Amino acid sequence: MANKTVQLEIKRQASPDAPAVWEKFEIAWQPGMNVTSALMEIAANPVTADGRPTTPVTYDSNCLEEICGSCAMRINGKARMACSSLVEHLDQPIRVEPLGKFPLVRDLQVDRSVLFANLKAVKAWVPIDGTYALGAGPRQTPQQQEANYPLSNCISCCCCMEVCPQFNEDTDFVGAATIAQVKLFNNHPTGKVLAEERLRALAGDGGIQECGFAQNCVEVCPKRLPLTSAISDIGRDVLLQQAKDFLRG
Ligand code: SF4
Ligand code: SF4
Ligand code: FES
Repeated sequence: MANKTVQLEIKRQASPDAPAVWEKFEIAWQPGMNVTSALMEIAANPVTADGRPTTPVTYDSNCLEEICGSCAMRINGKARMACSSLVEHLDQPIRVEPLGKFPLVRDLQVDRSVLFANLKAVKAWVPIDGTYALGAGPRQTPQQQEANYPLSNCISCCCCMEVCPQFNEDTDFVGAATIAQVKLFNNHPTGKVLAEERLRALAGDGGIQECGFAQNCVEVCPKRLPLTSAISDIGRDVLLQQAKDFLRG
């Protein structure tokens, strides 16, 4: 019996201005192989399927267990994590290309710093810095912890933004991940001191009103964050905040 192989077609681009080309690879199949391990195999022997030497494919990767969020890419047309995309579950040839809505760095590597800028804009943190010991924080009930835990699972992969029809240069929409983190930090007993500022940051252009509620985001999220309920809840809170600010003059 012939040895089993894996075929991949990978979109290559040496720099943001270089022309994009698709390269085909055929590598030996191994049990439990995922797209990241296939890319590692190619890096160890960068030769195309027709025997032409090439360069190793550039991509981001770190944890290899769907925790760091760095390896998001489009695999067979779907935004997903390379490290948890098992080859045996994918149709071949496996088509691998970079996320399309973020500035390209090289090959499969993109610059997703917009998410971190958005998280900064909504103050997605608990403000506990001080010059003296602040003591123990307020207690949270197990029910509160359970309600908030799913929101804390975001790995900043940007898949939800990639598939969102509203995430584009025309709207400057912050995207679902940022809205979910506003809910997480506004629910936190210490984090909520910045709740009003976070809601105001989502009230302007590019804020929550840009969401068309198409729900592509919740379908694609690898960590299954409850994004639609976060968007509904924060949408309501932003409206209430706007009403309060209006009445305060
Ligand atoms: S619900 Fe639709 S429009 Fe709103 S963030 Fe999700 S994908 Fe984007
Ligand atoms: S909400 Fe989900 S899809 Fe969006 S960045 Fe976080 S983990 Fe990724
Ligand atoms: S390498 Fe960390 S999520 Fe894939």
